[in-house]
Amino acid sequence: MLHAITLQALKDIVGPGGWLETTADTAPYCHDFRNLYAGTTPLVLRPDSVHGVANILTLCTSSRISVVPYGGNTSYCGGATPRAKHAEIVLSLERLKRIRDVDAAGYTITVDAGCTLASVQAAATESRRYFPLSLGSEGTCQIGGNLSTNAGGTAVLRYGMMRDLVLGLEVVLPDGSVLNQLTKLRKDNTGYDCKQLFLGAEGTLGVITGACLKLFPQPNDYITALIAVDGLAAAVQLLETIRNQFGDSLEAFEYIPRAAYELVLKHCSQTVFPFDHPYSGYVLLELATSALASEYTALLESFLEVHLADRTIRDVVLARSGLQRDNLWLLRESIPRAQTLEGASIKHDISLPIAQLGPFSDKARSIIDRLLPQARVVAYGHVGDGNLHFNISPPVNTIKGSTEERAFLSRQKDVTCELLDLVTSFNGSFSAEHGIGQLKVPELERYEDPTALQLMRVIKQAIDPLNIMNPGKVIASLPVKRLET
Ligand code: MLT
Ligand code: ZN
Repeated sequence: MLHAITLQALKDIVGPGGWLETTADTAPYCHDFRNLYAGTTPLVLRPDSVHGVANILTLCTSSRISVVPYGGNTSYCGGATPRAKHAEIVLSLERLKRIRDVDAAGYTITVDAGCTLASVQAAATESRRYFPLSLGSEGTCQIGGNLSTNAGGTAVLRYGMMRDLVLGLEVVLPDGSVLNQLTKLRKDNTGYDCKQLFLGAEGTLGVITGACLKLFPQPNDYITALIAVDGLAAAVQLLETIRNQFGDSLEAFEYIPRAAYELVLKHCSQTVFPFDHPYSGYVLLELATSALASEYTALLESFLEVHLADRTIRDVVLARSGLQRDNLWLLRESIPRAQTLEGASIKHDISLPIAQLGPFSDKARSIIDRLLPQARVVAYGHVGDGNLHFNISPPVNTIKGSTEERAFLSRQKDVTCELLDLVTSFNGSFSAEHGIGQLKVPELERYEDPTALQLMRVIKQAIDPLNIMNPGKVIASLPVKRLET
């Protein structure tokens, strides 16, 4: 329970319109979008300045109140959902949404943390520049969340993850002090790179309020193709040959297995399907060019002809208009929704060295066949950077809420454990781009290098000794021990 005087002091900091208190008003802030977690909060604060965020954290520290930073609520791991009955306040960045500066000559953009990713992309485009982070949720997710979770998406093979796109950061620390490192510099060798601590920390060390991000030259055009292949190993082989020929122009290389394609076909009526005949798998690839698109299209066409002739690819469609391009992307981006509409699923967000994707996938399939006979492996995603969403749906025609579905879900723990052990044996990651949140805290403990885990605890203890920042997430409630010397 929060003391009424403290509650009032918090409300006074943000002023009228800056807070929400009734159960009805706070409800949307208390569950994650996958509906895995439902929490409670006595108060949602919506400050409209960095100063406001700093005052809130100062008061929360002196009153020992826990704070859950909240962005667009698109976390896959419950990273922004308060826990039930812990009296954690939610601090939403939604009113901090100013594009502070676009420096076209310097190729930088400086923004508030509450800007949606789409608004940052649009501001860059207006200045004939390009911000490449691209996610299915870009209309909703916020830059602060992208930074706090080190978001990935579809252009990682060309531009890297969010961490690679940051030049400077502004962060309010738990004691209310402000780390002001909103630099535009690309060269700045001045000791430890403090901003890195907050990228991927999921709000457990402070609240990111602003960032200076890298911009890039705007591509002149895109060439987008959907290519039918004989499965994941064939897709990986295609990736190597296409990268050899097209180098850094390759911006996206997404794999869609037949099982995912069929789910979209079944549930997403607005999607246009280019092939009548089903194939084992499909690659959605995109080349971005600053040269003439027609030249690149011709090059890609002759590349594809050679590979159709030697049967390393099976079929292909090239988008001939912006609308066709959008339709191909819609097919890919509808997969998570289609899988949700189909019913329960067991999800994994893994990454492996690219050459290991094929061998891993064969072994993983035999684990699933053993533990969940007839279940459907829907392993899709960003194969270009080694990241697979290795999801599993129950056997076809399993009814939602049925005993069969419950039996399927009851195997989740065993399946995930065997699968992630396998990932680890291939030197992969159990969490490629979705972060840890509350969902993967046990996995972090099980799979993270013990020294790295210990360092994380030491850093948490040093920056947030009262554990008021997003408790229960990432390394939550782990006792801090001394680093052994
Ligand atoms: C995607 O790539 O579609 C997202 O990361 C969501 C997912 O894991 O399904
Ligand atoms: Zn993804």
